[in-house]
Amino acid sequence: MIKIAPSILSANFAALGDETEEVRVAGADYLHVDVMDGLFVPNISIGLPVIKCLRQATDMFLDVHLMIEKPLRYVERFCEAGADLVNIHVEADTEENIRKAIELIRWQGKKAAVTVKPRTRAEAILPFLESCDLILVMTVEPGFGGQSFKANQLPKINSICSMIERYAPDCELEVDGGIDENTAPLCVQAGANVLVAGSAVFGKKDRAAAIRAIRENAVKV
Ligand code: DX5
Ligand code: ZN
Repeated sequence: MIKIAPSILSANFAALGDETEEVRVAGADYLHVDVMDGLFVPNISIGLPVIKCLRQATDMFLDVHLMIEKPLRYVERFCEAGADLVNIHVEADTEENIRKAIELIRWQGKKAAVTVKPRTRAEAILPFLESCDLILVMTVEPGFGGQSFKANQLPKINSICSMIERYAPDCELEVDGGIDENTAPLCVQAGANVLVAGSAVFGKKDRAAAIRAIRENAVKV
């Protein structure tokens, strides 16, 4: 099943409750929440208090993408704040600490995911694959919304899809960055089933039509 995860990075932060409700009603599957620390990526976005408020405002599945250094320090607090899934970057710490962070997320009864940046090889997810519920492949350099899709990531999506089929068939495969109605089908063809879209949803006036367009093109594949 194809899932659409609008990224609130492109939403109007002064009206986050209404923005969330609009995409929920429009049939979005996950709400993608981008947390940036100004160190792991050259940008700062939102943090724990916003996730707590979102948790009170909606029953949507909160897919929290942590673009932060040494996520082990914070994963428990993101779980407590109300994340349903906590997504950490394999580049953000040592293998041992990434493993520990995944364990902490799972002990809290939440879903765990790892993410790879465009220049990171597919094999980097292997040590974590069997303990993850989702793998995220970045299709832009993380840090900013509205960038162009990197088509050179498609072979990586494909190889990670094969790894998932072999070692963790229930694991989901998400893509993030430059996803719209034209690039979504390419990712689905390569094996992705969760599509994050920021500007292609919140940058449009009619969010329901935007979600529909992405989904319709993606399911045609
Ligand atoms: C970028 C974020 C994305 C971002 C995607 O670092 O992880 O989730 O919001 O934005 P678009 O869909 O506009 O590329
Ligand atoms: Zn993201």
